[in-house]
Amino acid sequence: MKIINSPDEMREFVRTTKACGKSIALVPTMGALHEGHLSLVDAARKCADVVVVSVFVNPTQFGPNEDFEKYPRQFDEDAAKCEARGADVVFAPAAADIYSKDFSTYVNEEQISGYLCGRTRPKHFRGVTTVVTILFNIVKPDIAVFGEKDAQQVSVIERMVRDLFMDVKIVRAPIVRDENGLALSSRNRYLDKLERIGAARVHNALEAGKKLAESGCDNIDRIKALVINTVANAKTRVIYAEVVDAETSLPVQSYERGKCRISIAVWYGQTRLIDNIRI
Ligand code: PAF
Repeated sequence: MKIINSPDEMREFVRTTKACGKSIALVPTMGALHEGHLSLVDAARKCADVVVVSVFVNPTQFGPNEDFEKYPRQFDEDAAKCEARGADVVFAPAAADIYSKDFSTYVNEEQISGYLCGRTRPKHFRGVTTVVTILFNIVKPDIAVFGEKDAQQVSVIERMVRDLFMDVKIVRAPIVRDENGLALSSRNRYLDKLERIGAARVHNALEAGKKLAESGCDNIDRIKALVINTVANAKTRVIYAEVVDAETSLPVQSYERGKCRISIAVWYGQTRLIDNIRI
């Protein structure tokens, strides 16, 4: 497996790979890789000849009071995991090689990004769409794989790819959960042992909402109320719990079986968790 840091070297690798007629799948990550990321590598392997995993903690998607500084960084471990899982390249550029000092060009999706996480993280999706565009321009993937734990992120990226005629196929990969149901996330390492067990209530609340919907309840307010009541405890502060369109992540007026998703974000102690379930 190759480790490439320089964007120019990455572009050269892409040129020679494409000249051989090989397809490329990209798995964009911010590192601190866990089984959820590695399942994306597995999905990528099935779709293309060459798998590139990018590891880049993207400064522009963090707000001023967010966890950019403390975000876990463990490059050697990440590279070893990628190699063991059959990735061909880890692309890990330095921030200064992606964002020049006078960087001034951003990509902005202006509808989906305003809801859910976008309400409390105003420039977050602008940072995501910008860096994903940069990665697409450097790696020129035929396919890019994203996890459905960040379902709104995938919706925003799908919209960007459609609107800007980007020549890449977006593949969604399912959420991976721990034995208690907690969705795997790099931020779970901020939870202590007890919090990790307790945080499984986020998934339990989603399951309760799904059960209510599937029992025939199409009242969105009742579904939301049940989710919020089920997740509630002394440690939890709900940021949002919404029923949205499963593909676009936009709010829906009525529940249509199989076409919706309950999306939730909570503070669990000091840790911000997001999760969702298709209903
Ligand atoms: O999902 C993530 O880890 C990040 O938002 C992404 C897509 C790698 C962009 O920085």
